[in-house]
Amino acid sequence: MVKITMNGILQTMTDSETTLTLDLEGVKDLASKIAKALKPRDVLCLWGTLGAGKTEFARALIQSLMSSNVEVLSPTFTLVQTYDTANGTIWHYDLYRLKSSDEVLELGVEEAFSSGISVIEWPERLEEWLPRRRIDISLRIINEYLREITIKPTGMHDFFKL
Ligand SMILES: Nc1ncnc2c1ncn2[C@@H]1O[C@H](COP(=O)(O)OP(=O)(O)OP(=O)(O)O)[C@@H](O)[C@H]1O
Ligand SMILES: [Mg+2]
Repeated sequence: MVKITMNGILQTMTDSETTLTLDLEGVKDLASKIAKALKPRDVLCLWGTLGAGKTEFARALIQSLMSSNVEVLSPTFTLVQTYDTANGTIWHYDLYRLKSSDEVLELGVEEAFSSGISVIEWPERLEEWLPRRRIDISLRIINEYLREITIKPTGMHDFFKL
């Protein structure tokens, strides 16, 4: 494991994961960098407690791929919202209120996984539907302004190294 400080940002890298400590601007920047590498069939799981910054990350990611300045709201009650972006259709899920994992079928998850780009808040709710090939992003609250972010591509050999 390597620990380095770049531009005041502590960064830890191993062969399989990268960890960064970032403020909100840094998180937005990271989300738009990752967005550029996404293509159809990619599944990005956003792990973290209430208020960890999952929606902020998803919003920055989606907005960076849209030509016009579209509003990205949390799909708290609809559970899913789709966006036609430069890289393909993004399916933004917030599964916090999912009642049973099978309910995701009604939310188009098969189409999302097979032909879209999926960005999923509360991926633990997917249970047996959680794909093995995915990018895990974990957000941990350090303080009011800082989050520790870990990026771990799982079962992906073609994902870029940050
Ligand atoms: N470094 C940071 N990264 C992300 N959010 C931050 C950061 N610092 C402060 N925040 C604030 O933390 C809050 C994160 O809220 P957000 O809705 O994104 O969380 P969430 O993980 O989606 O929560 P929920 O589980 O309720 O959907 C926002 O108010 C945001 O401004
Ligand atoms: Mg949210």
